[in-house]
Amino acid sequence: MRRLVRGAASLESYRLQTYGLHAHLWVVGGGLEACPTLGYDGLWGGWILGVCSAMAEASLPAPELSDELARWLAPARGRLLRRLQIARRRRVLDVACGTGAVTAELVRRSGGTVVALDRRFSALGGTPADRFAGAVRVCGDALRLPFADGTFDLVFCQFAMLWLDVQAVIGQVSRILAPGGALVAIEPDYGGLIEYPPQIATRSLWLDALRRSGADPEVGRKLPGLLQTAGFAVRVDLLDRLEPPSATRFRFLEELSLGARERRRLEAIRAADARLGGSFRVVHLPLFLITAIAEA
Ligand SMILES: C[S@@+](CC[C@H](N)C(=O)[O-])C[C@H]1O[C@@H](n2cnc3c(N)ncnc32)[C@H](O)[C@@H]1O
Repeated sequence: MRRLVRGAASLESYRLQTYGLHAHLWVVGGGLEACPTLGYDGLWGGWILGVCSAMAEASLPAPELSDELARWLAPARGRLLRRLQIARRRRVLDVACGTGAVTAELVRRSGGTVVALDRRFSALGGTPADRFAGAVRVCGDALRLPFADGTFDLVFCQFAMLWLDVQAVIGQVSRILAPGGALVAIEPDYGGLIEYPPQIATRSLWLDALRRSGADPEVGRKLPGLLQTAGFAVRVDLLDRLEPPSATRFRFLEELSLGARERRRLEAIRAADARLGGSFRVVHLPLFLITAIAEA
């Protein structure tokens, strides 16, 4: 019988895996029911929970911030998912799903099973359950996806590649996608951040703080070429409208690790922004809206 999660039989007790420095203890919990669609009898409606190592939470914004980001990107995301005919996809993976800001939408739009994976247990378990309603939760590492080859026909990824070893993840996504399967990736490029007037400019703060936290702030521009080299047919769109900037943008930055001097600079920028009142400002973060189809 084909299993959704590799080695799942051994998960029914406990399984200890060591991924580099991070020890992950996997536990199966929750109400486990049969899942005939997947041909697996222990996961549907249940959780695979992991006790993940304590790490800096820089890559995990507060749920309300993730929700705001998800709302902002909803129209563009809808277009990409429709283009890839999500309603016909049977197995969808929300990789690095965080607190599930998009998971419920994937469940609603897709015609099959949605698996939400993140390496942080706190992201998967600490929010109201309905954020993941109808999805299977897996605490796992995107760099070593615990799924058999060809398991999924759609992989979704939003604001996550910047935190990952992109080459490794693309390799994993290629492996777990069935022939003709597809990836939707929505990723930023802070190197291209346009802000005006100059007194509200935060670009260098973003670049320094993200790099210090282990992220690649310019992942957007790199992804299309890497995906093409990996054998995907790639299409890239960009956001086509300048929106009024949200004051919340400073909160995202505050959640990163900033030094005392950087925090003071951020406060000065915030004050300058407030002084501008209703006058027009430009804040444009390039978002790479990528659809990539694996070669059949
Ligand atoms: C900025 S959040 C984005 C979450 C979600 N995609 C969203 O749009 O709200 C990035 C997520 O990547 C997860 N992450 C980082 N490295 C990971 C890895 N190696 N494996 C799985 N998840 C990872 C973090 O735990 C975090 O939840």
